Amino acid sequence: MAIGNTFCNLAVESINGLSPYQPGKPIDELQRELGLDNIVKLASNENPLGASSAVKNAIANSIDKLSQYPDGSGFYLKKALSEKLGVSADIITLGNGSNDVLDVIARVFLSKGREAVYSQYAFVVYALATQSVGATARVAQSTAYGHDLNAMAALVNEKTSVVFIANPNNPTGTWLEADELESFIKRMPAHVIVVLDEAYCEYLDQGESVDTIGWLNKYANLVITRTFSKAYGLAGLRVGYAVSHPEVTDLLNRVRQPFNVNSLALVAAEAAVKDEQYINKSRELNCKGLRQLSEGFDLLGLSYIPSVGNFISLEVGEKTADVYLKLLQHGVIVRPIATYNLPTFLRVSVGLPAENKMFLVALEKVLQDV
Ligand SMILES: Cc1ncc(COP(=O)(O)O)c(C=O)c1O
Repeated sequence: MAIGNTFCNLAVESINGLSPYQPGKPIDELQRELGLDNIVKLASNENPLGASSAVKNAIANSIDKLSQYPDGSGFYLKKALSEKLGVSADIITLGNGSNDVLDVIARVFLSKGREAVYSQYAFVVYALATQSVGATARVAQSTAYGHDLNAMAALVNEKTSVVFIANPNNPTGTWLEADELESFIKRMPAHVIVVLDEAYCEYLDQGESVDTIGWLNKYANLVITRTFSKAYGLAGLRVGYAVSHPEVTDLLNRVRQPFNVNSLALVAAEAAVKDEQYINKSRELNCKGLRQLSEGFDLLGLSYIPSVGNFISLEVGEKTADVYLKLLQHGVIVRPIATYNLPTFLRVSVGLPAENKMFLVALEKVLQDV
């Protein structure tokens, strides 16, 4: 029987240095702790609209098949995605959320002695996936809280196997213009897999939105990842996907778990892909919510990082931890981002208009109180 920290000694070296991912505080937990009735969670960039009725019907129609394994190939979901994206289903890899896909990419292309490049303030899973396979992270200094692509390119060398870029970026909400991004991808050597994480791309308005899927025809080393957790409103079901060169897709499929997307998630995501109206509604609601929040911050004299995602990171100052705790007492859960080395910021997800208002009212009170 191992005692003390003996099990840590047994773990592979790269795992000992990892810290677990810290999710947003669940509503139930705050309810248990404070016994509040009215709680709003604006902490995990979820879709405040909830799942659409098309999704709920699809799930209800599949509920009798729970004793059967899901379709391990995800045939119908891939078919729906292939029609929507205009690509062959053979270049799609499904995942248990896009985190799963990011992890699979790391397991396929990274290992001890290899390097991954990403930006300061990048999505934390890039660090977790890189470290968990023993690879070395090269972190480029950010500019104005966003990606500095020249700084990233300068870190690329013969050991670099993967470059991770989130566009829009979480937690900062910053955005890279298509020209700039494409010329970076063009500059990347063929031995570097460029992961373009588009978890929030559906929130972009038409002017900002670019056919990055079309770039796959030009850049064989490009892998695009997307998710159903954000604009599609299915975070609880865990579905994401990658679109990549067929050989890369084949490699990813060798490593992913055989039934990594469950049967309810498959039918729900398939219904969601076909529901253009829901996505348009989500985008419009988000756009109004971003405006409502930024106007609220302006009125309170708070600075924030302009965002094109479904969240905004605002600067609260040295009392950020206190503000976070006091907001909880008002029933508002937001996300401290000290783990991203942004200890004076809070990230707030866009909610329904009344939820955003509840947050802004609570924030004003709390700021007078700290
Ligand atoms: C940039 C980015 N990529 C990927 C993900 C992973 O999302 P999921 O695993 O729910 O698909 C997130 C979630 O917050 C994210 O912010």
